[in-house]
Amino acid sequence: MTAGVVIIGAGQAGANAAMALRRQGHAGPIVLVGDEAHAPYERPPLSKEALLQPDQAKLALYTPEQFAEQRIALKLGVRATAIDSQASTVTLANGEVLVYDKLLLAIGAQPRRLPMLDALGDRAHALRTVEDAQRIKAQAQVGKRAILVGAGVIGLELASSLTDLGLQVDVVDPARRAMLRNAPELIGRFLQDTHEARDVRFHFGTGVRAAERSGDQVSLTLENGTQLQGDLLVYGIGVSVDDTLAKAAGLRTEQGAIVVDEHCRTSQPHIYAAGDAVLQIDADGQRRRIESWENANLQATAAVCGMLGQSLLAYPVPWFWTDQCGYNVQFAGDMAAPQWLLRGEPGRAPFVAFGLDDGAIVGAVTVNAGKDMRPAKELIARRARVDQATLCDPGIALRQLAKAS
Ligand code: FAD
Ligand code: APR
Repeated sequence: MTAGVVIIGAGQAGANAAMALRRQGHAGPIVLVGDEAHAPYERPPLSKEALLQPDQAKLALYTPEQFAEQRIALKLGVRATAIDSQASTVTLANGEVLVYDKLLLAIGAQPRRLPMLDALGDRAHALRTVEDAQRIKAQAQVGKRAILVGAGVIGLELASSLTDLGLQVDVVDPARRAMLRNAPELIGRFLQDTHEARDVRFHFGTGVRAAERSGDQVSLTLENGTQLQGDLLVYGIGVSVDDTLAKAAGLRTEQGAIVVDEHCRTSQPHIYAAGDAVLQIDADGQRRRIESWENANLQATAAVCGMLGQSLLAYPVPWFWTDQCGYNVQFAGDMAAPQWLLRGEPGRAPFVAFGLDDGAIVGAVTVNAGKDMRPAKELIARRARVDQATLCDPGIALRQLAKAS
């Protein structure tokens, strides 16, 4: 009998794992189960092109023909509700029972909810799915006012897209600055300045005390007493993982995330997990909890290598990007590095920021300087030590520095 793989979660990690299984030689059945009605699609465009040019946004990860050619059976619009790790079965919400030899959990994450804002009804949104983006787009009309709660990646990308669409935008966040979780201070400040130059108003250091709805209007009272009115509200205050399925199957979890090793193996034999739902703890104890497009792809491949008993390539320096206000900003390595140096002029793209730890390069951010990312990653991977004046001199090509160091 040929070995069958069941994948729960037809998103970035799940779809790419299915394709990687075929590419890497798995000949047996593959079943990809997704609770969304759509074939697997990319989420990064949802806060960007899908709002600005919905007709041109390319969302689908693969065509139906590609899934058919690769003999990947899609079961869409149906949720996996139980895993029996003793019997090696997955039960779906429609009662169907799937038997697996290997199982991959690629269930992603959900926006953290604020019940006070959900109570505002159809003028308040979180953003994770195509439907969320369509609802936001339908209300994002020129001259309207949008309130964004959360000045993280989602909040800032929406601030960019909604101002492009001609809306007036207010952003609220109890943190002291933008993108506190995953950008160094100088980049957070640069982005704030950029948005403010487009008339976005930030309200930092204060949360939402009360929220009301009157007709099609929403109004917020902030903890500092400020009153805000909006025609729509979107909140992006981070994500959480629904660990119900994993816990019931006896998998080890930590704060909701499914704990896996570097091969993406969970605590139960033959069950793997990848993507936003995962906390990866390597043999040396290094912990990775990364919510990014690249990480979903890498862990999908790692899980497939684990399932097929193939050797694993080393994980590269972690990388992600955001697009805001005409700037492509790419991040690699450790964003919590204690010291940051600028290569270029502050606020005048293109420029690169380097994060140093005790003299070693451990992080980098490129702003409209994507071509510098590869050498920057090489420097980070080697924890290179480069003379600071040389590193900050845009006249010396980073490629040369990466070769020389
Ligand atoms: P997902 O893509 O979320 O897929 C998980 C799937 O599993 C979902 O379809 C879910 O409904 C389904 N599922 C869950 N439970 C079950 C179940 N029990 N049964 C069946 N199906 C189930 N990253 C970047 O690096 N750069 C960006 O610019 C960027 N922009 C983004 C913009 C937005 C608006 C969003 C939401 C994310 C963005 N990301 C970005 C993050 C990136 O999209 C995610 O990290 C990536 O999608 C994670 O992939 P995943 O497969 O783990 O989860
Ligand atoms: N009210 C307002 N803001 C809040 C609250 C709250 N109650 N709680 C947290 N925040 C703020 C945080 O201070 C932070 O600035 O929300 C922001 C959340 O930012 P991120 O952690 O970047 O999360 P988000 O922007 O929601 O992105 C969610 O999408 O693109 C992906 O990789 C990204 O996985 C991430 C996901």
